[in-house]
Amino acid sequence: MLTAYDALMASLLDEHCDMLLVGDSLGMVRLGMTNTLPVSVEMMSIHGQAVMRGSKKALVVVDMPFGSYQESPPIAFRHAARLLQETGAQAVKLEGGEEMAETISYLTKRGIAVMGHIGLTPQHVQQMGGFKVQGKNEASWNKALRDAVAVNKAGAFAMVVEGVVELLAKEITEAVTIPTIGIGASAACDGQVLVTEDMLGLTDNPPKFVQQFVQLKGLISQAAEDYAAQVKAASFPSSEQCYHSKNAS
Ligand code: KIV
Repeated sequence: MLTAYDALMASLLDEHCDMLLVGDSLGMVRLGMTNTLPVSVEMMSIHGQAVMRGSKKALVVVDMPFGSYQESPPIAFRHAARLLQETGAQAVKLEGGEEMAETISYLTKRGIAVMGHIGLTPQHVQQMGGFKVQGKNEASWNKALRDAVAVNKAGAFAMVVEGVVELLAKEITEAVTIPTIGIGASAACDGQVLVTEDMLGLTDNPPKFVQQFVQLKGLISQAAEDYAAQVKAASFPSSEQCYHSKNAS
């Protein structure tokens, strides 16, 4: 699984991914926000529609943004239904464990496929005091494990396990019956997800768990520098890139 926020990226990733995630990380990665909290249902819908236009075979999951599902199960249902109707995506993802179990159950019993998200949950960044790895002490280990079991029991079809220590990821994956999709959670999970811009080498200072499979940032910067130099030197556009009239000499 990889993230995608628009049709172009979705079309490039689609054939290689079982799932594409329209993550609310788009707020930080593409819209310059400091965290994911200001992302709205409308933004997720617009980007979800774009991803659906670009993807042919991957299962597309759209994130439910902060404030769209925490208040009550019926409000969560309304927003999840809107996201699925407007985008045509197959599933929604929401963050939280035990405290979200009732909501996950409410949605799944009414026909909505839900992916859970436990461990480090970025929408709780203010409460957690930053993006903190989970499972480093007994209390946080036990809480993450209880969360995973609750999300599984509530009817989610899979869950993202983010930012947990390796042995906890292993214990969670063994304890639940649905696939665990890890990010910063080791190869002990059943699958993996990364923010695409991180793995393409487009973002500065990616987290420790990211592998940059290519360094696109440098290539883009070099291309822009070459373009600017050629425009200034009037060597671009050349005759080859110009339209000519038929009777021009
Ligand atoms: O928003 C997102 O991109 C995510 C992934 C990091 C799992 O939730």
